[in-house]
Amino acid sequence: MDIKRFLSPENIGENREAPRAYFIPRSSARAAAANEPDDRFESLNGYWNFHYYESVTEVPDDIISADCDSFIPVPACIQCEGYGQKWYTNVNYQIPYLSPFVPLDTPVAVYKKKFTAKETDKRTYIVFEGVCSMFLVYLNGEYVGMSKGAHLMHEFELKGLTAGENELEVAVFTYSDATYIEDQDFLRFNGIFRDVYLLFRDSEHIRDFFIHTSNDGSVFVDFDFDGAPATPQVEIFDADGKIDGMKVNSPHLWNAEDPYLYTMIIKCGDEYICKKFGFCEVTVKDAVLLVNGTPIKIKGVNHHDTDAKTGWYMTDEQMRNDLILMKQNNLNAVRFSHYPPHPKMIEMCDELGLYVIDECDLEAHGQERVFRGEDPGFALSGNPLWEKAYVDRMARTFERDKNSPSIIMWSLGNESCFGENHRKMSAYVKSRDSRPVHYEGTSAPRRYIPEDERPSIETEDACVDVVSTMYWGFDGLDAAGKNESGSTRPFFMCEYAHAMGIGAGSIEEYWEIMYKYPRLCGGCVWEWADHAIFEDDGKGGHYLYGGDFGDTPNDSNFCVDGLNFPDRRPHLGLLSLKKAVEPIRFGFDGEKLTLTNTMDFTSSDVFDIKYRVRADGNVISSGEIHTCAAPRETVAIVADVPRVVCNHEFIEAEATYKYDTPYAKAGDVCSFGQFEVKTEKPEKKSPEKTPVIVEDKDRYIAVYAGGVSYVFDKALGVPMSIVKNGRSILAKSGEWIMRRAPFDNDMYEKKIWNDYNINTARFYAIDCSVSVSDDEATLSLTGAFAARSQLPFYDASVVYKITSAGVDVSVHGEMPEKCKIRSIPRLALMLTLVEGYENVEYLGYGPYSCYSDFNNFAHFDSFKSTVTEEFVPEIKPQECGNHIGCEYASVSNGSTALCVDGKFEFSALHYDPDTLAGTAHVHELPADKKTYFIVGYKQHGVGSNSCGPRPLEKYCFNDKKIDFAFRISVK
Ligand code: GAL
Ligand code: MG
Repeated sequence: MDIKRFLSPENIGENREAPRAYFIPRSSARAAAANEPDDRFESLNGYWNFHYYESVTEVPDDIISADCDSFIPVPACIQCEGYGQKWYTNVNYQIPYLSPFVPLDTPVAVYKKKFTAKETDKRTYIVFEGVCSMFLVYLNGEYVGMSKGAHLMHEFELKGLTAGENELEVAVFTYSDATYIEDQDFLRFNGIFRDVYLLFRDSEHIRDFFIHTSNDGSVFVDFDFDGAPATPQVEIFDADGKIDGMKVNSPHLWNAEDPYLYTMIIKCGDEYICKKFGFCEVTVKDAVLLVNGTPIKIKGVNHHDTDAKTGWYMTDEQMRNDLILMKQNNLNAVRFSHYPPHPKMIEMCDELGLYVIDECDLEAHGQERVFRGEDPGFALSGNPLWEKAYVDRMARTFERDKNSPSIIMWSLGNESCFGENHRKMSAYVKSRDSRPVHYEGTSAPRRYIPEDERPSIETEDACVDVVSTMYWGFDGLDAAGKNESGSTRPFFMCEYAHAMGIGAGSIEEYWEIMYKYPRLCGGCVWEWADHAIFEDDGKGGHYLYGGDFGDTPNDSNFCVDGLNFPDRRPHLGLLSLKKAVEPIRFGFDGEKLTLTNTMDFTSSDVFDIKYRVRADGNVISSGEIHTCAAPRETVAIVADVPRVVCNHEFIEAEATYKYDTPYAKAGDVCSFGQFEVKTEKPEKKSPEKTPVIVEDKDRYIAVYAGGVSYVFDKALGVPMSIVKNGRSILAKSGEWIMRRAPFDNDMYEKKIWNDYNINTARFYAIDCSVSVSDDEATLSLTGAFAARSQLPFYDASVVYKITSAGVDVSVHGEMPEKCKIRSIPRLALMLTLVEGYENVEYLGYGPYSCYSDFNNFAHFDSFKSTVTEEFVPEIKPQECGNHIGCEYASVSNGSTALCVDGKFEFSALHYDPDTLAGTAHVHELPADKKTYFIVGYKQHGVGSNSCGPRPLEKYCFNDKKIDFAFRISVK
């Protein structure tokens, strides 16, 4: 088969119908309103005959003779069904850059489907909702047409149908010229991956329609006909019934918080079309993004179609489930990165209430690698040869989804640098619609200009209505909010907070800035779910990522960067985002509790709000709050806060849904806050001391105190053994560590740590003294926390005071002036406990893992858990299980507990940091029954530096001085 003639960017398709709005015509008003398939619709989903050709050169010219000896489901990605190469690459193209050609050996998937056609006077169309890459369609061996544009709608009229049996033949090419502009960061799939169906239409019919509304209630429908213009009958219904005429009195406006839809039934000839529509006007005024005249904040997320078993194919239930989860997690927006989703998913957003940034299926990121350092704008985006393809894709994105009120912005695509073709795309949209246009890449050319000559981001091309950025830092965001240059455009973070692995840190701080400035219209976290491939190993299965399939080049686990695991179990990042964008924010200034309504349209009284005051865990006061806050308003709340003598008094407030909604049940929590109340602390009684027995050797010192035998290593400055009732608690000597199993977000910081040999850092004693009295032994060591070949990170002393109450450990450190390291992963004492130490209790921040810049979802309390449960099974293992702000922690085997008191953070896991760091997949972690009880002074923050900024300076661990004290005891 010779495909060369198709491989021209100017050949965007052959015999494909012009783009139109998504709708399914029906034969009756009832079927239309109920969206019920009838005789005008036939799904071709199901098993098709199939053959996978390794090379296009093997495909017979007359496709009908292709021997499709096997079967494949439609829709499906062929790689998920055992054909072709599973492959993850982010930026790199899979093939050499031969644009617009592709290698002669591009693989081809040939599909065949037999179906019976009835004798009919109707015209038959076939619709493909998604096919990758270029494909050719034949009917009974006769060529029907060709199309490109993987995630867009493709429609052909089947003119050669005969009554009785017919056969469709479809050849889907793995690569085509479209490959160069479909270079999104995802697992690379091919095949017919979305629905395929037939439509049977009147010989003359509505080809397209565009519903225009205005907030005074008037509705106008712009029709386009195939055949003679007609006057369709249009009826509008609200929740109470039919509305007279084409004007709705005082229309109920649509917004994400109140997604009110009207129903339109259009009758033309014998066809009925139903469309739910809304009144939603999106405008920009004084650099502020407005929905129906009200400023909004986009609390969004980036969504890719992804499932670990079916790849790009998602069922209706899966699509809906994703959107429901978003709503449950306080989100109000979704950017469909980086292509339009199935059209039904957009309709689900209309219905559930999510603002949509609808993005064109267009990304040419690979050019950046191809043209190494040169602005690649000329190659595709600025090249007239590609104009038609660019504009066609935008037109098909826009026309398909234009009737959806949820769409608040049109996006020209992603990461394709910038060129005149983008201006043409924008001009197309602007000729049709008034909603704002977004494209982050307009600023891309800046990157190729020396830093000191670089124009401000605010100079982004006038073809976009919002200035948008990715992974902007906090200072940059603040400056954009201040808007000293007087930009007239809102500022949007189309991607921020890279949620790869544990993280992202500081989502909270982003939102502090976002709420401060009207110009900042919010942003979308990268990204919704991990992309991975599920492999069934007979033991529950496991996930794989780039590089696991012999796929070269690949980008490893960079696709595993979601707020959810592939099966939509939430990562901690989702909890952090849910908290940061919660509709009700509580505050406490030490005296007064406040409530801020962060919603844009809804009063706070849709929630039940309660508070309680707890003293050392016991409730001492509680109440319901009936004060109502208008949208964006802060009100003071009258709460009874008695002050009692206790270690910790907290006021805690919670907002729960008052009513059932399509996504939450009455009683579900949407917001919470916990604030410490200053109180008088009770006096601490020290237990009576009993005598100690000491045996002091050159290297080691043994102390028997309170029924426990301790041995310390004077050179390493660590407890070597702890024995009670003849049983060893430690499996090996304790260890001072400065390393951690890097987070994915330590991607760059760890290079510095490796450069400083941080993995070899420990305490090196250079001097030692022992003093003993009747009831106390003190081991004082001076030396340094240092790594091989490096200056010390800290000149330090470590003192162990052993009494019958336990071991008081105190550490003092000072960073030498000449030590220039910019951050340290952590400083901690790791105690390795023998098998059986499984039960964990602690007083501190939990119940989830938390870190200095990643803890808004945690609260202070006393918690019980197990070492097994403490582990966070990230697909690529990394640091986890930490609890900050702890005052007590114990790990016990049921009879003996190793306890720590003081001010510290800790983790207790069955894996040591080196094993976590050295294992590529969670299912490969070796079973280990020991417990690694790590008592820490501090850790470096999480940040989102795998793509975004490092942790804020205040969360970087580079203290000049360290004072750290805690007590170890055995109970
Ligand atoms: C962005 C890009 C996304 C994804 C992300 C990193 O630059 O738009 O598609 O690659 O980075 O995960
Ligand atoms: Mg990209």
